[in-house]
Amino acid sequence: MSEVLEHAIPEYLQQERTKPSKLPASYVPPFPAYVSRYPRSIKEIVMAIIGVQYRSKDLDDGVVISQLSEFMTASSSKSIQPTSWELASVTDQAGAYNVAIIAYWPSAATHKEWGSASGFEAWWQGLEAGETHGWFLEVLSPSMDRWEDVYSGNEAIEGAAHMREGVSGPIHEHAYWGSMRDRIPAAQTDDLAGEAVGSSTLDGGKTASRVQVPGRKNLAVIRSGQDWSATLPEERRLYLETMHPVLLKGMNFLRDHGSEIGCYSCRLMSIIDAGTQKPDKDRTFGLAYFDDLASLEKWSREHKTHLDIFGGFLQYAKKLNNEISLEVFHEVLVLRPEQQYFEYIGCHTGTGMLAALTK
Ligand code: HEM
Repeated sequence: MSEVLEHAIPEYLQQERTKPSKLPASYVPPFPAYVSRYPRSIKEIVMAIIGVQYRSKDLDDGVVISQLSEFMTASSSKSIQPTSWELASVTDQAGAYNVAIIAYWPSAATHKEWGSASGFEAWWQGLEAGETHGWFLEVLSPSMDRWEDVYSGNEAIEGAAHMREGVSGPIHEHAYWGSMRDRIPAAQTDDLAGEAVGSSTLDGGKTASRVQVPGRKNLAVIRSGQDWSATLPEERRLYLETMHPVLLKGMNFLRDHGSEIGCYSCRLMSIIDAGTQKPDKDRTFGLAYFDDLASLEKWSREHKTHLDIFGGFLQYAKKLNNEISLEVFHEVLVLRPEQQYFEYIGCHTGTGMLAALTK
């Protein structure tokens, strides 16, 4: 079987390694996984998280989200609209209700053009912190050598994959610890070392006004998604009873104790239907920011909360004889400082990368 497995890294981004791969000798993965194949013309992907933070859920009257959604579809900027976008929400550790758009563009230039043509940029610059809510903007623009995605199936398409031109065959580099790094082109020649989380992080209160957080060296971002919408009742029950609780535990650990292990922020977000603005409860994603790819690896490889998720998944697959309709995927980005833009207006200080600001 191994001769038909594909390299996760596309040929044009392959380099002679100075950093050895962790791929075990004669390795055959226990189950298949696939990666997106993007057109070579795409040099970078822009992922923008544009959100509003209400002090509590009952303050959300849907108006702001409709307004934000209109920027995504503004006809003045049809050719430069995001390739895909979705709404997602989370009630965070401070009890604040965050609703965000997560949107993708195929270049920084298109994203910039959209910002001005749609009116978003001018609107954003004019915002002020409100009594009931704050705002956040997180724009991540990895070059393709600092991006990897992996899917449990070869049909589901999420996020950036809407701009892919195809999907790989089953890949070689997955399901062993270190495989994430082996799929990142830049890691062939670079350790991608980051900067440790500062010793003292802000908490409590809200930021008075507009705060920009500078980019960090090799910030590692993961968006890990789960979609159980296609599951039949037996699998759905198994997912909700065995997988969802351990996922929640893991995400709560990263959210509440992440700073102990190099995680700045973690949000387990539920996808919301853009039309009804109601949660589509069958899809979630964890969005987490780490100081270093090595910290993310360490948590996934060693911490009980991810080992429970991982172990739970193996049992889940076994119980269903590998006939699984659950789709899981992730997108991992390791960013240069200039590939990050974080701005917060009147949000509480535990929001996103605000946690990276030390007192
Ligand atoms: C790796 C399962 C959620 C972080 C893996 C692997 C599995 C798995 C099976 C090995 C994948 C492969 O390479 O083929 C799951 C399931 C999840 C889940 C079933 C949810 C239901 C998460 C979340 C995060 C995360 C939310 C972080 C926010 C990681 C990382 C790796 C990994 C970083 C790669 C480790 C490496 O290659 O060194 N997970 N996971 N996972 N997972 Fe999870």
